Amino acid sequence: MPASPAGPAAEIAAGLCAPQARIAPKFFYDAEGSALFERITELPEYYLTRTERAILEAHGAEIGRLVGPGATVIEPGAGNCRKARALCARIAPACFVAIDISADFLHAAVAGLRATLPALDVRVLVADLGAEFSLPPDLPAGPRLSFYPGSSIGNFDPAPALALLRRLHALSGPDGALLIGVDLVKDEAVLEAAYDDAAGVTAAFNLNALRHLNRLAGTDFEPAGWRHRARFNRAQSRIEMHLEAADDTLVSWPGGRRRFRRGERIHTENSYKYRADAFAGLLDRAGFRTSTWWTDPAQWFAVFLART
Ligand SMILES: C[S@@+](CC[C@H](N)C(=O)[O-])C[C@H]1O[C@@H](n2cnc3c(N)ncnc32)[C@H](O)[C@@H]1O
Repeated sequence: MPASPAGPAAEIAAGLCAPQARIAPKFFYDAEGSALFERITELPEYYLTRTERAILEAHGAEIGRLVGPGATVIEPGAGNCRKARALCARIAPACFVAIDISADFLHAAVAGLRATLPALDVRVLVADLGAEFSLPPDLPAGPRLSFYPGSSIGNFDPAPALALLRRLHALSGPDGALLIGVDLVKDEAVLEAAYDDAAGVTAAFNLNALRHLNRLAGTDFEPAGWRHRARFNRAQSRIEMHLEAADDTLVSWPGGRRRFRRGERIHTENSYKYRADAFAGLLDRAGFRTSTWWTDPAQWFAVFLART
């Protein structure tokens, strides 16, 4: 009997065989995917990054006052660490822990951070947030601030989002806090353009997941045979990204295969858009005590500071 595949290959095969085929968004992030995401954050249509940065900048002094110096800042999904760099320069933490699944990209980002803030104690953890992971055992004893910007919480369905907020509550420890960025509900055209830009960078990012799968699971996807699709599902208040088969096609991998009809789709990402009061309620249900939040003049994005 052939050995059953383990790890990412098993997870990928299960997703491709599901009645609605799916690929988990973490598989966007090989080195090429991380680089494409960098380009997305600079696109005119992708308002999220610049709006969140502007909020953090405008309210940085107040955030610094509320958090106080000497905290240990922990960022799950740290990416390029650019927002953390600005935050750490403001709040003078004792330590910064950068966690990400995209190893090479994270190491390069942390090297840049160490060069800019040489006095900061920076720790690196390559880990999948969906699995169990342990923080370095010798972190400073002071309060902890979990930092979860980028509206990454939007990638989780409601129940897993609540479960993740509860994990972040535990990670932040007693007298800790969470600083989290959340994308808000807005005009459908603005939302859909942000996930389907004119230059086609988001399309390239979505399609790159297929190349990543070919390497991780031995699938034989031909990315040219797939189309990027992004649409706002108002009933579920989420942007959905899919890859759509341009023609009937057979995808095979060691131990499995699936036939896709022309027009059939693989679901690659959800990005939930919240109302600020609904998100405050979620923080409450996750066990956070009080939350302060800030937004931009158009109320497109919100940053919450919640205490454990
Ligand atoms: C949308 S980017 C946000 C990056 C950064 N926090 C920011 O706000 O600019 C998401 C980041 O999370 C990482 N990531 C995605 N899924 C992950 C997972 N399951 N475990 C760890 N990191 C993950 C990606 O590699 C990527 O760097």
